[in-house]
Amino acid sequence: MKRRYAEIAGWGMYVPPRVMPNDTFVTMGLDTSDEWIFSRTGIERRRVVEADEATSDMATKAAVQAMAVAGLHSGDIDLIVVATCTPDHVMPATASIVQDRLGMLNAGAMDLNAACSGFVYALATSAAQVESGRAKNVLVIGADELSIYLNWQDRSTCVLFGDGAGAVVLRQAKEPGIMGSTMGSDGSGAGLLTIKGASRVRASSNGTPGGSANGHEKATNGAAAAADENYLTMNGPQIFRWATQIMPRAAEQVMASSGLKPEDISLFIPHQANERIMKATAKRLGLPPEKVFSNVREYGNTSAASIPIALCEALSTGRVDVGDYVVLSSFGAGLSWAALALRWSVPIPSHVAPWRPIQRQVASRMAAVRSVLRRGERSVRTRIDKTLGKGED
Ligand SMILES: CC(C)(COP(=O)(O)OP(=O)(O)OC[C@H]1O[C@@H](n2cnc3c(N)ncnc32)[C@H](O)[C@@H]1OP(=O)(O)O)[C@@H](O)C(=O)NCCC(=O)NCCS
Repeated sequence: MKRRYAEIAGWGMYVPPRVMPNDTFVTMGLDTSDEWIFSRTGIERRRVVEADEATSDMATKAAVQAMAVAGLHSGDIDLIVVATCTPDHVMPATASIVQDRLGMLNAGAMDLNAACSGFVYALATSAAQVESGRAKNVLVIGADELSIYLNWQDRSTCVLFGDGAGAVVLRQAKEPGIMGSTMGSDGSGAGLLTIKGASRVRASSNGTPGGSANGHEKATNGAAAAADENYLTMNGPQIFRWATQIMPRAAEQVMASSGLKPEDISLFIPHQANERIMKATAKRLGLPPEKVFSNVREYGNTSAASIPIALCEALSTGRVDVGDYVVLSSFGAGLSWAALALRWSVPIPSHVAPWRPIQRQVASRMAAVRSVLRRGERSVRTRIDKTLGKGED
């Protein structure tokens, strides 16, 4: 039987419009400075969601772009995987919300939580679905809004993170696109980076002094909301030391299993957490700076969205061409890590055909109408069941 492969056929990204420069932290009264943050992390600014913007909103926007580039219809997608550690709800899955919004009626939908490594985990898992023939087209999204879990009084964590989403469409191919992957975990380090609370707790301000959190207060759980343990906590120096070991090790593993040497790599896309971690990783891999992609300056650490956002920007700035070998490597809470090697195989469009946005609009309106009809049908059925004294099926 002929071997099947998986390739990336579409890509898209979304970051919230609200820009938060380093100076905002000083304005908020934190004992920090633009100089400290930039010199220790390489971050100059980040994007932060508005009150009414959920992870699913960002994920949907990135996915719409990825679908347009891939030129696929909603009905073509067999599976949606959303990598996130900041889902809209404990249940339903954020992927199901995206599925409904995009009218992907033939798609299974699930969330995957491997924190900042989530997107590479999701890409590797989805590639296996495509390669095995179980799925033809998979929508893989990395989306996170860690800003809602940040303690805006803790200068050692709140300056590091930002919000955003990135998406790719994986499809079946005759030649290898995705070449190899590796995933790892070491739960003994789980305590080094945590958000412990089960409730969706919001900080009292996400950079808007006196402002409310992001509008999701309805999900907040009384007393638990005040507990410190519901914020993101981190042992920065230990994570730093570990990351500079594990990112290059994971990349080396996947290069070896894919038959690639450092000189074969056109672009290395590391998890965008800290410029110093990326530089140390590149040095260990023997990669020159021009082969390492970085946009941490603009967005900070966007968790599961960091690598797909970086990939989108690498593509849109001409850093990747057909035939190029690209390596992705990530690390995060868990502790978790993952790396993946790919050969770029599809042409990079300089623009999306003008009729595509119209087609997209029509498709998304139809999806919305279908959703309303389904909800209407459900509510009628519930009422009938109530009248007849039955539970919903
Ligand atoms: C967090 C991090 C930037 C701190 O940088 P560092 O060089 O290790 O700095 P240290 O933690 O040693 O702190 C040095 C000093 O700066 C202080 N400091 C911490 N954050 C600060 C800030 N925003 N502004 C000013 N000073 C700060 C510390 O309190 C410490 O002060 P002290 O010496 O008086 O105790 C760095 O450790 C890091 O990036 N770690 C990895 C984090 C990460 O990637 N997490 C995401 C994983 S997916």
